[in-house]
Amino acid sequence: MEAISPIKKLWGMVRPVSHLQHRIRGYSPYQQWNRGIGVASSVLKQTGDLAVEPHLPPLNVQKQRGKAEFYEAIGRICQLRQKYLENRTVFVDGREMVPLLKALGARDEDFATLQAVNNVLIDDPTLPFRKSRNGRFCFDWNTKSLRRLEFQPFALSLEEDFKRHDSNTIRRFDEVDNDLQRNTVFQALLVFKGVMCHGITVNERPKLNYRSNQWVCTLFALRTVTTPEMLGEPALEGVHTDGVDHTMTTYLRSTNMSSNSAVTFLHDIKEKTGIRLNETSPELIQARAQHRNFLDTLLIVDNERKHSISPVYAVDASREATRDMLIFFTRKPVVGDHISSDIDSLIPHREKQLEFPIMSLSDGYELESAE
Ligand SMILES: [Fe+2]
Repeated sequence: MEAISPIKKLWGMVRPVSHLQHRIRGYSPYQQWNRGIGVASSVLKQTGDLAVEPHLPPLNVQKQRGKAEFYEAIGRICQLRQKYLENRTVFVDGREMVPLLKALGARDEDFATLQAVNNVLIDDPTLPFRKSRNGRFCFDWNTKSLRRLEFQPFALSLEEDFKRHDSNTIRRFDEVDNDLQRNTVFQALLVFKGVMCHGITVNERPKLNYRSNQWVCTLFALRTVTTPEMLGEPALEGVHTDGVDHTMTTYLRSTNMSSNSAVTFLHDIKEKTGIRLNETSPELIQARAQHRNFLDTLLIVDNERKHSISPVYAVDASREATRDMLIFFTRKPVVGDHISSDIDSLIPHREKQLEFPIMSLSDGYELESAE
């Protein structure tokens, strides 16, 4: 029998403090208790990180410049970017992503660590079949760097083509921690996204500041869980957009998931928001993609293509099935009365500080100097 840790005892004796306590409709007392333990563990872990844990410097793409594989990777990324420019979406096989990310500076030992990073997720604020955390980052093209931003709640609205029971509500996710943000494969994914998206003109969304030289990136670490009693839906909302300029989705791993699970369909922007795949018009389906291998990555110009994702099915229906993903939303900062106007701070995170150089290819080949 598992021993009860001091923190679990403590949690059992006291009610959660107010800022950690979310009233979660539909969750059992056990699930709420379990979620609280996750938050408390995260706080303790963070304290430990600050106190004793030494850490290696973040990724520095500038230091890759003298290496032949760097230029090979830049050449390949230019091709992928061209494809993205033309098709407004591109899928990159994870086996191809590995050498690209290494060439951008990712360390070998960080690949296995990243694949398991979603083990620390906790219950989602509104979806019972999902575990989640998120974090906010700024692509700052003035300083040519990416930095962690302070915590803010999160919202998506019907106005942004997101129709679900929790549309237009403010959701508070627990934050991703140093185990993810200090991982150089994760950092290289952010550099990759910057290179792929910088300089691409997109259909502009209302109430975003397209004159800004900064992007807000909200990163979601998500685990979709299917159990004998509950079907896990990577996109319960059906056909939708993510309310951003560029969406990037990267697969980490799955367990007990059948091969017909979690297929992403891209729909013409004219498709009706909120409908299920079987209700969609076949002639408006433009592409299909399925993440199967570690680091399989899909990019979508979010305001020009809608998307939907099929459920996670179990191979062995008597056991749990899981699917772990990283989702990178990126958009310009909001202006005016946008639903996120009060939750779009560009202030750096005080406790979880991170900043490292990024680069762009917006005008042919151009490697920005960040030093
Ligand atoms: Fe989405």
